[in-house]
Amino acid sequence: TISTVHAREILDSRGNPTVEVDVRLDDDSFGRAAVPSGASTGTREAVELRDGEAGRFHGKGVRRAVDAVNGEILAAVRGLDALDQAGLDRILIDLDGTPTKSRLGANATLGVSLAVVKAAAASARQPLYRYLDAGSALLPLPLMNIVNGGAHADNPLDFQEFMIAPIGAESFFDAVRMGSEVFHTLRGALKKAGQNTNVGDEGGFAPDLRTAEEALTFVTQAIADTGYKPGVDIAIALDPAASEFFRDGVYAYAGEQRTRTVEEHVAYLVELAAAFPIVSIEDGVAQDDFAGWTELTRTLGDRCQLVGDDVFCTNPALLRQGIADGISNAVLVKVNQIGTLTETVSTVRIAQDAGYGVVMSHRSGETEDTTIADLAVGLACGQIKTGSLSRSDRTSKFNQLIRIEEELGEAARYAGRTPLRTA
Ligand code: PGA
Ligand code: ZN
Repeated sequence: TISTVHAREILDSRGNPTVEVDVRLDDDSFGRAAVPSGASTGTREAVELRDGEAGRFHGKGVRRAVDAVNGEILAAVRGLDALDQAGLDRILIDLDGTPTKSRLGANATLGVSLAVVKAAAASARQPLYRYLDAGSALLPLPLMNIVNGGAHADNPLDFQEFMIAPIGAESFFDAVRMGSEVFHTLRGALKKAGQNTNVGDEGGFAPDLRTAEEALTFVTQAIADTGYKPGVDIAIALDPAASEFFRDGVYAYAGEQRTRTVEEHVAYLVELAAAFPIVSIEDGVAQDDFAGWTELTRTLGDRCQLVGDDVFCTNPALLRQGIADGISNAVLVKVNQIGTLTETVSTVRIAQDAGYGVVMSHRSGETEDTTIADLAVGLACGQIKTGSLSRSDRTSKFNQLIRIEEELGEAARYAGRTPLRTA
């Protein structure tokens, strides 16, 4: 049973405060979890409670969420069975009492939810991935974000993420090795082209390129120059994060200094997918562009993974609706978009039951916490998106997956291209 719960403010990878929670059980088992934070957030995400207190962390303090954990939540969960995760999460949801967790904060509920499951796994003397599902030995295909744009960098690129996916790797470790090699080849190529090689929020390069074609050309060339076959050994995935540049019913490409109508924008994505070895596009259209989602799924859904991030916000009800509407064919899963582990698992199961792909995901603001690596394996997601091959907030997740693969030994299976059902 839970004996103590304690939250504090710590810093995330962007230097902003976030919530960290420690949980101790009466058998002295311990669990700790830190909450991530997004920059290009969906409008239907659970609420990340910020203090808005002038003169303290520029208003971004999370003392109210911390106080909620150390006060109300502690009082409600002390003495509960830590093995009953669904019961615990139900209490957190009911205690908050709002549909978006705006009273206590999803940053408060998520920190507690994840710290409790980690303490429970420790009590069961099992690594978290095994505690979640003793049978799962599926190491995810990583989508590695090596060029950053959009809200994650100060460059003109309109699209937020250009990722590489080592579909032909032999193992997860091999995938990381291949990714690292391409990352460094790309660095050399950018330098040679006179581009700056500073990195953005997720550890990918942030060159001053204006068009997606230019970035895709650099990435495809870097794959080939490293000695890999683009589309065979390593494929490409995009996250345009299109909600960020959808304005007044059109897509406003600031870097290209032009707009595209919904039809033109979808046609452009189709064009890119034909010209480059692209196997996955996340948020290709905006969260409120229902016509765009329908059209994109109709035209590209049979040959490209289409991942819904902002449009579903890891919300079981929104995902169910999207599946019924025939929108996308995969879901991005971000634990802090919904605020409890139980609801996260429910979203994953709904997707898996519908034959939708599942991509476990970090946020652009991360910490050293590696819980999502264990969730990716334990929930057999098949894919993970956790940034680039640099910066410890990103590589810590890859490194945890390397350890898990080693620990699983002969039982470990690397997903490779199999989760990309449509590719
Ligand atoms: P965010 O970006 O964490 O800044 O929201 C990640 C994404 O859009 O996938
Ligand atoms: Zn996204």
